[in-house]
Amino acid sequence: MTLQPDNPDALRHLLTLEGLPRAQLLALLDRAQHYADGRDNRSALAGTAICTLFFEPSTRTRLSFQLAAQRLGADVLNFDVSTSSTRKGETARDTLRTIEAMGVRGFVIRHHDDGAVAALADAAAPGTALVNAGDGRSAHPTQGLLDMLTLRQAKGDDFGRLKVLIVGDVRHSRVARSDLHALHALGAGEIRVCGPRALLPGDATLDGCVVSHDLDAALEGVDAVMMLRLQRERMDEGLIDSIDAYHRDYGLTSQRLRCAARDAVVMHPGPINRGIEITDEVADGPQSRVLAQVRNGVAVRMAVLEYLLAGRQP
Ligand code: CP
Repeated sequence: MTLQPDNPDALRHLLTLEGLPRAQLLALLDRAQHYADGRDNRSALAGTAICTLFFEPSTRTRLSFQLAAQRLGADVLNFDVSTSSTRKGETARDTLRTIEAMGVRGFVIRHHDDGAVAALADAAAPGTALVNAGDGRSAHPTQGLLDMLTLRQAKGDDFGRLKVLIVGDVRHSRVARSDLHALHALGAGEIRVCGPRALLPGDATLDGCVVSHDLDAALEGVDAVMMLRLQRERMDEGLIDSIDAYHRDYGLTSQRLRCAARDAVVMHPGPINRGIEITDEVADGPQSRVLAQVRNGVAVRMAVLEYLLAGRQP
């Protein structure tokens, strides 16, 4: 399996945030903040071709990568699975190698299978960089980065002072895994995780977290609440009793949010199941940072594409 880094100081691909040194995370966040402050760099990737290769649906990740690549001056190809030769049986690996042969040097890939993007990285030619835009339930590293940027903008640099709560379907969530890797690396003061037993993973994912099944208690005094989407497309039948019961026990309402710190922020990676994970009042309320997360997605993806691809023109 191709290792993510070329060496400890230089990433070749961005496949996961697991094991990424704190200094590298902070450097990416600093560069993303530079772009979030409204700066463009349309010459950074001039002459570089990037392809978005999504085998699963997406709105914000795909479009923000596309916008990020354009703002760096790259040529962007959007691969449409539904009209592609994958419909005739071409494999993902052959698809990658075919597009690579056209001179494309950057790939942003989403796939339903855990480890699929790492396997494609293994097949890629030297000089090609891959970004994992979400694989199975494993990792969504740029979502983790944009969540950290959003938290840092709201709460400052000192993650050691923060109590952060992650709520919901952690078991099926690649976002939660990437957020947990980043929060641990940045030294978050306390990481709480809350959800029904059936939707929390039984492996080492939650090591170092305070785990609870009582949302009101878990919310007590937290500085940030990161709600997760119920991943019904990845869920076996019967893991939750009913949507109504899930909302009753784990839905974030204005009344519940009062248990958190007065200036707590609410985040959600989207897409939101309104009225299930979170009420309209909270999703659209003053403590919500949901649209800031989306905005930060463009800046983070500019920083990542620039980092991996600047200087790799064919
Ligand atoms: N958060 C996220 O990955 O959203 P999309 O599925 O719309 O890209």
